[in-house]
Amino acid sequence: MDIVIESIEHSAELLTVRWGDGARSRFHALWLRDHCQMPESRNAANGQRYLDVAALPEVVAIAAASLRGDGAVELLFQPEGHRSVYPADWLRESCFELNAPHDDRSAAGKTLWDAASIAAQLPRYAWDDYRQRPATQCAALQSLQDLGFFLLGGVPPRERMLLEVIGSFGFVRETNYGELFEVRSQVDANNLAFTNLGLGAHCDNPYRDPVPSIQVLHCLSNTVDGGESVLLDGFRAAALLGEESPGHFDTLAGTRVNFRFCDRSPQSGADLRSRVAMIECNERGEVIKVRYNNRSIDTLLMPAERVPDFYAAYRHYAQILQRESLMLVFKLAEGDCLVFDNTRVMHARRAFSSGGSRHLQGAYSDLDGAYSRLRVLRRELAK
Ligand code: OGA
Ligand code: ZN
Repeated sequence: MDIVIESIEHSAELLTVRWGDGARSRFHALWLRDHCQMPESRNAANGQRYLDVAALPEVVAIAAASLRGDGAVELLFQPEGHRSVYPADWLRESCFELNAPHDDRSAAGKTLWDAASIAAQLPRYAWDDYRQRPATQCAALQSLQDLGFFLLGGVPPRERMLLEVIGSFGFVRETNYGELFEVRSQVDANNLAFTNLGLGAHCDNPYRDPVPSIQVLHCLSNTVDGGESVLLDGFRAAALLGEESPGHFDTLAGTRVNFRFCDRSPQSGADLRSRVAMIECNERGEVIKVRYNNRSIDTLLMPAERVPDFYAAYRHYAQILQRESLMLVFKLAEGDCLVFDNTRVMHARRAFSSGGSRHLQGAYSDLDGAYSRLRVLRRELAK
């Protein structure tokens, strides 16, 4: 669509733009002055601002406005006598009326799924294809944003290969478990994940602040009986909680709880704590993050009167997280690598026998890097 300005009007305070398609946008003088696009206000190459808001006049007036022959709007600001030119497409993509505030974490912009719906659109890609074709990598990262995960098949089952997977979209987030961690049965494990016990649906590391927003699990071997993996859309679970009981949703969204991981061993000692809501919403009330981990929820500090309400909501949510209808169940095979949004998609594993071997390597990364990579890939592919 060609962005065309039909007409403009202005007062000292306000510029009103009428667009060729009939839409209308309003821009305040102070906002326009601060968002000046001229080379003296911004670096032409990287778009970063030179302006400092404290140096702007408190009251800025639009003294003159004209629509130029090239379709841009030219303004004269007083008291500085400053001239600015705003391209039409910049005004269009920057106005509040026609652009939802950017929130790539919000459930509102994503496809929520359950067991039946995800089975029909499993985001599974071949590692060789993903490595060689930017379009495949773009589709995979798009799945991460939209569905909360993707699965790579054929990642060579070699130690540390998952670091290469992470390097394809971002950076490793090192933790007290190291650059990566070994998921296999260990004697005297410092975490129940490193045993053969089943694990209920959970998010990793909710006791870390900020929480690592991407988790990667790479399967090096899996010949045990059991040990199936489960993924569950935590945003769908939170939506169900809200549909079934708005009060329970509000209780979990409005109560900050403590998470903690305490390891007293001398070599890997840690005492990590966070205080966060199990369901986090943005200013529009849309879910942006969930955290749930029955192993690492800490002592709940709350007045006795609040306990019944809180537990009713907590139990209801826990029951939703146990519904088979929400669970994508599959067995990781050698060379499979799971990449998921740890602030949305919960994972679980079924218990496994002690015969045979099961060895995964796990590591963390973050969504901002992956989303940045996705935008760059989209830009390159659109050329
Ligand atoms: C973990 C975990 C799952 C598995 O290490 O965080 O949940 O499949 N492991 O072993
Ligand atoms: Zn885990």
